[in-house]
Amino acid sequence: MTTVDGGFRATVLTLYPEMFPGPLGVSLAGKALQDGAWSLETVQIRDFTTDKHRMVDDTPAGGGAGMVMKADVLARAVDHVADGRPKLYMSPRGKPLTQARVRELAAGPGAIMLCGRFEGVDERLIEARNFEEISIGDYILSGGETAAIVVLDAIVRLLPGVMGNVMSGETESFETGLLEHPHYTKPQEWEGRRIPDVLLSGNHGAIDKWRRSEAERLTKERRPDLWEAHRASLKK
Ligand SMILES: C[S@@+](CC[C@H](N)C(=O)[O-])C[C@H]1O[C@@H](n2cnc3c(N)ncnc32)[C@H](O)[C@@H]1O
Repeated sequence: MTTVDGGFRATVLTLYPEMFPGPLGVSLAGKALQDGAWSLETVQIRDFTTDKHRMVDDTPAGGGAGMVMKADVLARAVDHVADGRPKLYMSPRGKPLTQARVRELAAGPGAIMLCGRFEGVDERLIEARNFEEISIGDYILSGGETAAIVVLDAIVRLLPGVMGNVMSGETESFETGLLEHPHYTKPQEWEGRRIPDVLLSGNHGAIDKWRRSEAERLTKERRPDLWEAHRASLKK
């Protein structure tokens, strides 16, 4: 087990601790880890086996392909670290992760994150230890580690002091219920394409209006589901 002290406490239960911190060790998240804004502990699930072959998985009840991670081994690993923090099982069957849930988690003490492998984990473990199942999208990864890295990346950047420019976080996609407006930077003209005149006008009222209308246009075009939810929230 590796531990670093800090604010938000992440404990990751995995068969591949060497995958961490991985991308979380660089840039904003890596600096925040070094500075102690959050801490990361990995727990090797295999250390909680009791048989001589150190088996973490077994064949699925009812037959079929693949292997299932054993409830008893996982329960020992979870119970070793459980302390009231939310317990999250990375799972394609889970509720899709939202920015709102990321904000809630970032405001809490941390999380215990279980990374599945093979066909997943014995259902009784999820029920008995009260795991919240979280999906990062409608596709199947080979393991929960990359999903845990995604979830932690989204959380860590919201921790106090991690993001330099707080305003940039507040206008970002999903924070307002809309996708974000497009961005441009110098030069004013590149390959015959000009930065929209309004952004060079210095008229902040007009710039805000343009950004808002672009955010609405993009959301309507690309994410009709978000657009409908946004309109419904405005009617309330
Ligand atoms: C090969 S997947 C198992 C897929 C499972 N048999 C199913 O069809 O739902 C192995 C592990 O990867 C993780 N995983 C895969 N896709 C994921 C996703 N979209 N979001 C979060 N975790 C995912 C889970 O921890 C899962 O237990």
